[in-house]
Amino acid sequence: MSGNPYQDDRGNRDRSITKPDGQGSVIGAAGGGKAQPAPGNPFLIGHEMTGGYGRGADILHGCTIAVERGEIAVIVGPNGAGKSTAMKAVFGMLDLRKGHVMLDNEDITRLSPQDRVVKGMGFVPQTHNIFTSMTVEENLEMGAFIRRDDFSETMEQVYHLFPILKDKRRQAAGELSGGQRQQVAVGRALMTKPKVLMLDEPTAGVSPIVMDELFDRIIEVARTGIPILMVEQNARQALEIADKGYVLVQGANAFAGTGKELLADDDVRKSFLGG
Ligand SMILES: Nc1ncnc2c1ncn2[C@@H]1O[C@H](COP(=O)(O)OP(=O)(O)OP(=O)(O)O)[C@@H](O)[C@H]1O
Ligand SMILES: [Mg+2]
Repeated sequence: MSGNPYQDDRGNRDRSITKPDGQGSVIGAAGGGKAQPAPGNPFLIGHEMTGGYGRGADILHGCTIAVERGEIAVIVGPNGAGKSTAMKAVFGMLDLRKGHVMLDNEDITRLSPQDRVVKGMGFVPQTHNIFTSMTVEENLEMGAFIRRDDFSETMEQVYHLFPILKDKRRQAAGELSGGQRQQVAVGRALMTKPKVLMLDEPTAGVSPIVMDELFDRIIEVARTGIPILMVEQNARQALEIADKGYVLVQGANAFAGTGKELLADDDVRKSFLGG
């Protein structure tokens, strides 16, 4: 790839799209500040993935999704398009028949999900992404399962990002509202200090106000230097904060471009954004 065709078109760096936040954010392997996208390969890419569940028919047909350093990439598409399947494939929960997955220029196609976590991947699945009978704090502790060092500082950082979780830390996660549960799920994934975060519908089932707040927090995480690859049903709002967007249809890429390009594309608007 030559140059960067997206130079002036970055969703998450457009500071007008989120509330100004006086407090510096502290989570992030990169230690704050915004990471610049490096020229060359994406930080994480599932490249031309083909595969399905077990011995079943292929669900993905040469599907590619990726995220660059310092960016937010959003995957949209109709129900059953294979968005979650593509995320699971990138996380190693599916055997690929074709294609490969690269993380920071390393081929991780054959690694187990656990080994991918060790390599720096954080994943929040679409469903069953918290332990409902455990407290909020126990959920965060579970998130730190691969760590042998002191993770109390990371927990404080998660509480700084999501203050409501600190207030509710002794409550069973199952008692929380939908938006608060999603914060627990994202917080849990941050406990491993991931180098990249994958979120499958982080705003599912929440009100528009809560959705906006969650997007703001997600942007904040991205600005600490953690690239974010995210599936979203709220396609229009998500593409507004996206540096790159992918539209998946029937397990294949239908459209790809910057968030702005997709929002401006007549076909994408008519077919996927309600006109
Ligand atoms: N565990 C599974 N075993 C077998 N088939 C599955 C499994 N999970 C999903 N599928 C099938 O794979 C296809 C794609 O499903 P997937 O969940 O990836 O779609 P999606 O785009 O995430 O949809 P949604 O917007 O509803 O979340 C569907 O036909 C679905 O029935
Ligand atoms: Mg899904």
